[in-house]
Amino acid sequence: MLLLVFYMVLHWFYWRACVIVRGSGKAFFASCNPKICVVGSGPAGFYTAQHLIKARQDAEVDIYERLPVPFGLVRFGVAPDHPEVKNVINTFTQTAKQSRCSFYGNVNVGKDVSIEELQQAYHAVVLSYGAEGNRTMGVPGEQLAGVYSAQNFVGWYNGLPSCQELNPDLSCETAVILGQGNVALDIARILLSPVDILKKTDITQPTLEALERSQIRNVLIIGRRGPLQIACTIKELREMVNLPDTRPEMVAADFNGVAEALKDVPRPRKRLTELMLKTALDTPGEKEQERRNKASRSWGFRFFRSPVEVLGDPDSMRVVGIRLAVNRLEGEGEGARAVLTGEVEDVKCGLVISSIGYKSVPIDPSVPFDSRKAIVPNNMGRVQHVSGLYCSGWLKTGPTGVIATTMNNSFDTARSLVEDIDSGTLDVSISKPGSQSISALLEKRGVKPVSFSDWEKIDNAEMKKGEASGKPREKLLSVEEMLRVVQT
Ligand SMILES: Cc1cc2nc3c(=O)[nH]c(=O)nc-3n(C[C@H](O)[C@H](O)[C@H](O)COP(=O)(O)OP(=O)(O)OC[C@H]3O[C@@H](n4cnc5c(N)ncnc54)[C@H](O)[C@@H]3O)c2cc1C
Ligand SMILES: NC(=O)c1ccc[n+]([C@@H]2O[C@H](COP(=O)([O-])OP(=O)(O)OC[C@H]3O[C@@H](n4cnc5c(N)ncnc54)[C@H](OP(=O)(O)O)[C@@H]3O)[C@@H](O)[C@H]2O)c1
Repeated sequence: MLLLVFYMVLHWFYWRACVIVRGSGKAFFASCNPKICVVGSGPAGFYTAQHLIKARQDAEVDIYERLPVPFGLVRFGVAPDHPEVKNVINTFTQTAKQSRCSFYGNVNVGKDVSIEELQQAYHAVVLSYGAEGNRTMGVPGEQLAGVYSAQNFVGWYNGLPSCQELNPDLSCETAVILGQGNVALDIARILLSPVDILKKTDITQPTLEALERSQIRNVLIIGRRGPLQIACTIKELREMVNLPDTRPEMVAADFNGVAEALKDVPRPRKRLTELMLKTALDTPGEKEQERRNKASRSWGFRFFRSPVEVLGDPDSMRVVGIRLAVNRLEGEGEGARAVLTGEVEDVKCGLVISSIGYKSVPIDPSVPFDSRKAIVPNNMGRVQHVSGLYCSGWLKTGPTGVIATTMNNSFDTARSLVEDIDSGTLDVSISKPGSQSISALLEKRGVKPVSFSDWEKIDNAEMKKGEASGKPREKLLSVEEMLRVVQT
């Protein structure tokens, strides 16, 4: 109650001051410009902020981030052996360093501060907090030791603090990955890449050590539909095909009728399928055959299979295999549906990674949430039925699309917001306190935000730590460690 009174007094004082300043024409407070806050500092958050700052010369944008470090999945999702993808960080850094943009890391929105409080402090709130949950398979045995979600597995090798206890047991020969999207291929590549290659990346040291001890020799990447419906893209498939010390092992029968169907397929899928067909069915040239013969590890797609049950050892409660339903397809092309045939098949394995997609979760009960689609219901980024509330990125569209797709949908949201200011639909005539009141609230709650220059201290510490071992950086693996560096 006291807190609410304090907040209202602060807000009233600020509003009065701005009115007085406007009346006298004197600049007493810095400004009464549109104040916008963005929740989440992944690509969606940064691209939304970038467009807002560019389109409205008077807009001030504050970005609130749960972790002390920015950039979302660019840091914690993108594979360590794809450093070129992370160059977008340079653009995000330029945005963060603009005088009209501020970063507040280490602030868990929905817990440390509510959306309602942000709405009171800002003219508009943009939710860009991504998709932090994962879709579950919904089959018995999913909880057994040795079964992981892609989200946790990727978080583990990329240094996400909440995943550092995962310690996956890689002492088995065969790993099964469910799902055939690019995340599944990232994981397969990390499991099978020679450690000497990974040593030069920013993969975490505990992961490198676990991969050095790994006994995994065989990775099966399983899809419920067929080759013509596979979700990965050609660049990622090509990387698998050319992965040193590995050979592809496919089932020729999975490709029956595929070549004949190719003529009606759009070009990107056609090229992808041709590469799959070549890999699966063509007799390799002498050099390639020799390479394949020498390879100590293998990988392969298995199609038309859905998980039915993860099989466990009753004593150790560890995974020992997976039961798969055999499917047939109904319909054609991208929209074909997997239908059970009634047949099942057991595959022996000691590691199961479910890579069937990420999922957004609600963070505040006051925000509408479509649980079926797992998105915030919106119209061009305007959250339905709540004026002044917007969303962008994976929270807006669902968890698909590369960074460029996320950039476009975030620019669209920013455009909607600017349109609303310009048309008067969003009232920015009354001044708002912005970060001033939120900082006061956070201080009272014992939350210490991390600024962008604080992040730069962490960044420098990580790069310095990495230098010693010839890596671009050695990531700090706990929030406590990150905050310790900030305080030095
Ligand atoms: C494993 C993986 C690999 C990928 N690799 C590539 C690639 O190589 N190339 C490519 O183009 N695309 C890649 N993508 C896709 C790309 O990462 C996404 O398009 C993009 O990150 C989505 O951006 P976003 O901002 O919506 O979500 P995110 O990147 O997830 O950002 C959300 C941010 O919100 C923060 N947040 C969450 N909850 C809160 C809260 N309560 N309060 C405050 N902040 C919060 C999170 O910490 C995070 O920083 C990959 C995706 C995955 C999953
Ligand atoms: N290098 C890169 O550019 C890169 C790297 C990683 C991720 N990304 C992007 O990030 C996005 C997310 O990637 P993602 O791999 O998580 O998702 P995705 O591309 O949507 O793939 C999900 C996979 O899971 C399968 N699946 C979904 N539900 C299932 C179920 N209930 N049972 C069995 N299988 C199921 C899907 O099969 P169906 O098709 O049958 O549904 C599909 O094979 C994608 O847009 C991806 O391109 C890009």
